[in-house]
Amino acid sequence: MNRLYVSIFLLLSLGSVKAQTHIPPDSIRAKMQWFADAKLGIFIHWGIYSVKGTDESWAFYNNKISWKDYMDQMKGFTASKYNPEAWASLIAESGARYAVLTTKHHDGVALWDTKTRHYDVVDNTPARRDLLSPFYAALRKKGVRAGAYFSLIDWSHPDYPGFRKDSTRYKIADDPARWQRFRDFLQAQLKEVGQLVNPDLWWFDGDWEHDAGEWESEKIRRDILARNPGAIINGRLAGYGDYETPEQNFPVTRPRYNWWELCMTINNNWGFQYTDTNWKTPYEVITIFADAVSNGGNLLLDIGPMQDGSIPEQQVLVLKELGAWNRKHGEAVFGSRAGIPLGHFYGPTTLSADSTKLYLFLPGKQTGDVVVKGLDNSIKSITVLGEGTKLSHKVVGKISWSSVPGLVYINVPDKVQDRYMTVLRLELDKPVRLYRGKGGFE
Ligand code: GLC
Repeated sequence: MNRLYVSIFLLLSLGSVKAQTHIPPDSIRAKMQWFADAKLGIFIHWGIYSVKGTDESWAFYNNKISWKDYMDQMKGFTASKYNPEAWASLIAESGARYAVLTTKHHDGVALWDTKTRHYDVVDNTPARRDLLSPFYAALRKKGVRAGAYFSLIDWSHPDYPGFRKDSTRYKIADDPARWQRFRDFLQAQLKEVGQLVNPDLWWFDGDWEHDAGEWESEKIRRDILARNPGAIINGRLAGYGDYETPEQNFPVTRPRYNWWELCMTINNNWGFQYTDTNWKTPYEVITIFADAVSNGGNLLLDIGPMQDGSIPEQQVLVLKELGAWNRKHGEAVFGSRAGIPLGHFYGPTTLSADSTKLYLFLPGKQTGDVVVKGLDNSIKSITVLGEGTKLSHKVVGKISWSSVPGLVYINVPDKVQDRYMTVLRLELDKPVRLYRGKGGFE
C-alpha cells in the first residue's frame, strides 16, 4: 500500500461507536461480517481471583479484602489442570464462533510473560508459564476466532492514579510525567499481546476511568489496525470501538446500534466463586440467546474456570446443552438477520440472509395455535426445525378486496416440541413483506 492508501484506509477504519447508528463505511462492514454472523461468543474470566473465589479485581477496590490479601492469591494460582485444547473443544461444541479470554483484568496480573516490570502468571504464580498462546492456538485449530479482553485500568500499577475506591495516588494534571509512564507501559503491554496472539477481536474494559485523550484511544486503535486491519474492537475504548457491549441486563427494546453484543455471566459473577451457585439453566441461556439474536445482537456468555484451569461442571453442562440446541437449530441462528418487529409475533424471530425464510422461536413450550400477524407473503411450507415435521396453517380474516393480510394460525402439536425451545421455519414465496398499518379499510 502506498502512503495515500494507507491514510485513506486509516481514515475509513477510524469510524467510532458514536457514529454507529449512521451508515458505516464499507471497510468496516466487511470486517464486521464474521462478527455479525457469529452470534455466540464465550467469555472467559480467569485470573488469581479464582483462588479464593473473590470478586475479580473489585474485591480490593471495594475494600472487601486488602490489596495484599488479594494479591496473595498469586501464590495459589497453579493452572495445574489447564487444558487449552479441552477448553477450545468445549467452546466449539457450544456452537460459539469466538471466545474472549481475560489477558489482564483490572488487578494488573497478566496471563502472559510480560517483559514490562509488572505482575504476570509466569513470574509471580506457580503456573509459571504463558497461558495465552496455547489457548489461542487451540481455538484457531478449531476454527474459533480468538479475542483478547484487556483492562485499560490497572489498579496495581504504581503509576496508575487510582488504586481503591477511596484512594487517589495522584492527579494526572499534577504529574503528567507519571501518567505518561503508565501510558508507555500500557502501550508496551498492548504491543506484547498483539505480537504474541494477534487477536481477531480486542475486548477493552475500564474506559470509564479516563477519556479518549488520556487513554490515547486513537493511537491504540490505529496501532491495532496497523498490525491486523481485520481486528474488531469492542466499544469500551472511549468512543473508538466498533460495537456496543450492553452488560448483564438485556435491552428491552431493539437497540439501534449497527452491531452489539450482550455480555452475561452464567451465574452471578464473572470469575469463579465457590459460593455462587445461582446458575442460569440451559433453558434460560438459550432463550436469552435467541432474544439477543432476534434483536440483531450477539451473546457473549461468560464462564469462570477455577484456579487449576478446570471448568465447573455446571458451566460445562450449560455449554453442552446450548451446543446440542444449536446443532439442531443453528440454521435459524448463525448467519441469520434480526427478526420481524414485535407485534407480528409473540416471541423471538429471525430471518435468513435473503429474508425468504422466517424463523419463529417458541419459548415456554407453546403448543396449539400460534399466530403471525401482518405477514404479506404466501407461505410455501412450515417445518419444525431439526425435527422435520411439516405443519399446516390457516389464514384467518383475509378480506378479498383489502390489502391487509390475514392472520396466520399455525397448529403446533405436542409431539414436535424440543426439550428447550422449538423453532419453526416458514418458507416464504419472496423476501418477507410486512403490513404495518392500522387495519380496517385499507
Ligand atoms: C465490568 C467489570 C468487570 C468485568 C466486565 C465484563 O466492566 O469491571 O469486572 O470483567 O464488566 O464485561
